[in-house]
Amino acid sequence: MRYYNPEYENKVRQFIEGSRRKAYIKTYGCQQNVSDSEKIAALAENMGYELCDSPREASLVVFNTCAVRHSAEQKILGNVGMLHALKEKNPSMIIVLCGCMTQQEHVAEDIKKRYSFVDIVIGTSAIHELPRLIFERLTGGKKIRTLYDESGEIVEGIDNVRNESFRAFVPIMYGCNNFCTYCIVPYVRGRERSRRAGDVVAEAASLVAGGCREITLLGQNVNSYREPETGENFPQLLRRIAGIEGDFKIRFMTSHPKDASDELIDVIASCDKIAKHIHLPVQSGSDRVLKAMNRKYTRDGYLALVKRARERIDGLCITSDMIVGFPGETEEDFADTLSLVDEVGYDSLFTFLYSIREGTPAAKMPDQIPRDEKQRRFDALVELQTQKGFERNAAMKGTELTVLVDEVKSDAPGGLKLLSSRTDGNKIVEFAGPAELYGNYARVRVTEPMSWLLKGELIAEK
Ligand code: SAH
Ligand code: SF4
Ligand code: F3S
Repeated sequence: MRYYNPEYENKVRQFIEGSRRKAYIKTYGCQQNVSDSEKIAALAENMGYELCDSPREASLVVFNTCAVRHSAEQKILGNVGMLHALKEKNPSMIIVLCGCMTQQEHVAEDIKKRYSFVDIVIGTSAIHELPRLIFERLTGGKKIRTLYDESGEIVEGIDNVRNESFRAFVPIMYGCNNFCTYCIVPYVRGRERSRRAGDVVAEAASLVAGGCREITLLGQNVNSYREPETGENFPQLLRRIAGIEGDFKIRFMTSHPKDASDELIDVIASCDKIAKHIHLPVQSGSDRVLKAMNRKYTRDGYLALVKRARERIDGLCITSDMIVGFPGETEEDFADTLSLVDEVGYDSLFTFLYSIREGTPAAKMPDQIPRDEKQRRFDALVELQTQKGFERNAAMKGTELTVLVDEVKSDAPGGLKLLSSRTDGNKIVEFAGPAELYGNYARVRVTEPMSWLLKGELIAEK
C-alpha cells in the first residue's frame, strides 16, 4: 500500500492553466470500473480539466474498458474507431484507453496497430500514473505509451468524483484468485489484495457524514477480504462499518457462494444497517458444469446455503448470475439449471450467453455450443425467470416498504414525477411523487407487482 503523489497532477494543471479544457470519461463494464472512473474523474478535475458529456467538446477522452464478454469488447472497439474522425478535426485531443480490455497484451498490440491515433494505453492498476503520462504527452512525449503496474499495489489517497451524493461505491479489495475457467477477470485484474480496514471505514464514515444513504462495498469476491495487517475478515469489516452512526444502508457485491459463511449470514441477519439482499452468482445448476467451471461448490451445497440464509434472514432477497451454453453443456445440464432457478425462486437473475475469452481454459474446451442453441437456452431461462420473478413480487402486493429514490424518470399527473426507487432487497419500485424525493427515503405501498419491478404509491416521505 502506498499513498498517491499528486506531483504530475499539479504539473498538468500548471501546463494547461487558463485554457478551459474539458475531459470526457466513458465507462464500460461493472461497478469496479465505475469506481475506477470516479478516481479518473477526480484526477482529471485536479489536473484542471472540466468534466463534460460528449467527446466532441473534449481535449481529453478516456475510455475505461471491459473485457468480460466478446460483445463488450467489440462494442468498445467500434466506439474507439469513431474517435478517429474527432481526432482528425482536433489533433491535440489526447485519447486514453484503460481498464480490463487493455490489460490483455494481445489487445494492447492490436490497438497499437489498428488504432494508432490512440495516445495512451494503461492497465487496470496504473490509474495513478495517468497524470504523468498525460503530462509527458502534452509536453511532446511519444504516442501510445503502454503501461502496466505489475505490482498491483493499492494506491490510497486518490479522490473520487461521484455523480450521486446519496449513494456510493467503496472498493474493499481488488483482483480475483478464483480462476473460474470461463472468466477473464483474474487475468486482467491480477491477484486479490485488500484495502486496510481503517481506510475503508474512514471512507465510509466520511461518506455518511456527507449525507450518503447507501454504501456498496465492492470486490470480485468480497468474502475473501482479509485485512492486510490484522487478518480481519469480511463479516468483521461489515460489523465495523455498520457501527458508524447515521441513517444509511450497506450493500456489497459480489459474494462467491463457496465462501459465503454462516458468520456472513449472521451479520446480515443481526445488523439493521445491512440491506437484506445477497447477490449469490450460481452460474449453472449442473454439478458437472460447475466442476468444469471450477466454481468449487455443488448444486446441493448451494441450495443448502440459500436455505440457511432464508431461514435466518427475514425477507431476504436473493439474486444471481447464470451462464448458458458453457462448453459441453448438455440438454440435461441445462434442465438442471432450469430446475435450480425454479427451486430457488430468485428475485432477479442476470443471464449471460457463454462467451469465449482468449487465454481462459474454457476457450480451449471441446464441444462449444452453437450460437443458436445458446440463444434458445437463454430465452427459455429468461422466460422461466420472468414467471418466477412475478411470483416473488406478487407476494408483495399491498405491503408497505421504505425505499431510496434513485431516479426521476418522467412527468406524472398532478405536477408529480414518475420516480424510480430501490427497496432494501434491491427491488425496483416505481411510483408518482415530488421530484424533491430524489436521493431520499420514502414510504410506499406496492400496488401492482410485475416481473422485473413493482409499481407502488407514495404513503409518506420518511
Ligand atoms: N466476481 C463476480 C463477477 C464476475 S463478472 C462473480 O464471481 O460473480 C460478472 C458475471 O459475468 C459473472 O458472474 C458471470 O456470470 C459473467 N461472465 C463472466 N465471464 C463470462 C463469459 N466468458 N461468458 C459469459 N458470461 C461471463
Ligand atoms: Fe471471474 Fe470467478 Fe473471479 Fe468472479 S470469482 S471474477 S467469475 S474468476
Ligand atoms: Fe468487465 Fe473488468 Fe468488470 S472485465 S466486468 S470491467 S472487472
